[in-house]
Amino acid sequence: MKEKILQELKSHAGFYISGEEISGSLQVSRTAVWKYINQLKDMGYVIESQTKKGYRLVESPDSLLPQEMKGNINTEVIGQNLKFFEQVDSTNLYAKRIAEGGFEDGTVIMADEQLNGRGRMGRTWASPKGKGIWMTIMLKPKISPADASKVTLLTACAVCKAIEEISGLYTQIKWPNDIVLNGKKLCGILTEMSAEIDEINYLIIGIGVNVNIDLEDFPHELQAIATSIKIEKGDMIIRKELAAAIINNFERYYKGFIMTGSIKDYINEYKERSAILGKEVRVTSSTLELQGTVVDISEEGQLQLELCDGSIKEIISGEVSVRGLTGYIS
Ligand code: BTN
Repeated sequence: MKEKILQELKSHAGFYISGEEISGSLQVSRTAVWKYINQLKDMGYVIESQTKKGYRLVESPDSLLPQEMKGNINTEVIGQNLKFFEQVDSTNLYAKRIAEGGFEDGTVIMADEQLNGRGRMGRTWASPKGKGIWMTIMLKPKISPADASKVTLLTACAVCKAIEEISGLYTQIKWPNDIVLNGKKLCGILTEMSAEIDEINYLIIGIGVNVNIDLEDFPHELQAIATSIKIEKGDMIIRKELAAAIINNFERYYKGFIMTGSIKDYINEYKERSAILGKEVRVTSSTLELQGTVVDISEEGQLQLELCDGSIKEIISGEVSVRGLTGYIS
């Protein structure tokens, strides 16, 4: 009922609607309307009440609740099923727990706060309450498991595009999927998969964007290497607008990839945004440690590294640090 009352208020955007009209159209008592209006106020909605005129919605909170997000989402599949938690251990962990029982393709899990946000290489991901976008997109793509990493690359393009649309900030990508601004990390993507040899059971794409985080909100050890849209822009961003733009852009890129089976339409955009093309880097993984110059990123999404003997090494996965004045910087 609360959602329906909110809808009524929204459909009269900026104007008063009387308690009588709401109670008539929703078939509830005027006392119940008053009670639900108070609950909405407690949730952060600014609602003016005036005798004889009724209620007027003045401001909505920066909330990621499905009813707040829905008006900004214009997709066919992605985010049509949207689950929101005020608090969760990790949206990726939650997604994995429900994935085994079956899920609707394109389900999106969002949280206001993660208590055990997870990053790549077993790291933790700081996810303070109400200050970022912590979300996971759940997919059942009919592609080879070998192509799953391409979805991560196109996700990076989609997130950059969304950030640009909403904040005007031009972000870069540090292969494979760190989104950086002025050399500091603004967003991370954690892709996890369950697959057989030739088919994917599920693919989940965890996206963490530092939106309205102040520098002092970051753990001390991250303050030199992490940033947020608020820090860079000097202004707050409405999270639901950015979250919806990510979902909308993701669907566009993902649909293109599923239709063609390739990321060749996006690879130039990806390379234009690359923070490491032409740079001297160190690439590490559990099985390798190499230094060289990044000469290209292939249509398969692999890093082409020119080693000091002039040979080219193709790298499928790893962690890149860029050579700076003081050594290699992650
Ligand atoms: C990285 O280390 O760069 C990846 C960070 C991914 C963080 C996001 S936040 C939403 C989702 N849930 C998680 O626990 N992690 C991802």
